[in-house]
Amino acid sequence: MPVNLRGRSYLKLLDYTPAEIRYLLELSKDFKRMKRSGTPHRYLEGKNIVLLFEKTSTRTRCSFEVAGRDLGAGVTYLDPGSSQMGKKESIADTARVLGRMYDGIEYRGFSQDTVEELAKYAGVPVWNGLTDEFHPTQMLADILTIEEHFGYSKGINFTYMGDARNNMGNSLMVVCAKLGLNFTACAPKELFPAADLVAECEKIAAENGGSIRLTEDVKEGTKDADVLYTDIWVSMGEPDEVWESRIKLLAPYQVNAAAMANAKPTAIFMHCLPSFHDTKTTIGAQIAEKYGITEMEVTDEVFESKQSVVFDEAENRMHTIKAVIYATLC
Ligand code: CP
Ligand code: NVA
Repeated sequence: MPVNLRGRSYLKLLDYTPAEIRYLLELSKDFKRMKRSGTPHRYLEGKNIVLLFEKTSTRTRCSFEVAGRDLGAGVTYLDPGSSQMGKKESIADTARVLGRMYDGIEYRGFSQDTVEELAKYAGVPVWNGLTDEFHPTQMLADILTIEEHFGYSKGINFTYMGDARNNMGNSLMVVCAKLGLNFTACAPKELFPAADLVAECEKIAAENGGSIRLTEDVKEGTKDADVLYTDIWVSMGEPDEVWESRIKLLAPYQVNAAAMANAKPTAIFMHCLPSFHDTKTTIGAQIAEKYGITEMEVTDEVFESKQSVVFDEAENRMHTIKAVIYATLC
């Protein structure tokens, strides 16, 4: 069956079939080749997209901006605080206004319900640039990076260490289930993904030849992994007060040399970024002063090692977001 995503929103990967995800990945590879060879691909001349950010961003914002411009589209950026949405205007009204002016809307914010509501009323495709629950554009970049490195993704032993019930833990579990990777969430029980999402992913994984495992045991969780993946311990939107308890809970789940040594010798380290691997950030320095730790979810040694592919992932955000914009608008 040919895949046609024209007019579709991209809100969470649960809405997409494995074939549709594969289509987006192959399209991303084509766009990466075109970008690298300098082949123009201005397929969206005359179209306009708007980027609505209620949380801060470097990669996602820049990826949407560059991807939109490379495709020939006009791009408007609305920063946290500079639109009326939520304060003076409802989500539904904002969606209906933006949908009259733009061909596509990117939204980064808090509740998944907000992005779903935008999509319901906009009349044009809406792309989820991260909510508290899901980060679906990051998933394409991560799988593309794995496929570039290993040549395939199905059957890969993928271990996520850290807060497994945040947007990254949830989304990685879903994409692994959809594409037949063996997903392990290695985390304290308190931070396991929600039981209903786990059950749904187990069903999806069984259909696609993958598996889902949750473990608190670091030795078991990292053993024979092809990929060790982590994310920051406190996500955007969470209060500063949670740092102390999160550090206590997650310190054993740091990706360090011992964790990498227990994985396969060919294993890679992945992270969506930004990352606290040293004290060269304001928050990193504050945490060091308050709690006496200079590295958090990953050691600087692993982050800077040859096994680390974090900047490939970051670059791939742009190529994959370009594929999503193109596929849903053209
Ligand atoms: N990985 C990611 O989404 O990065 P930004 O928060 O910089 O967009
Ligand atoms: N879990 C992180 C992901 C950042 C890309 C956050 O939501 O802050």
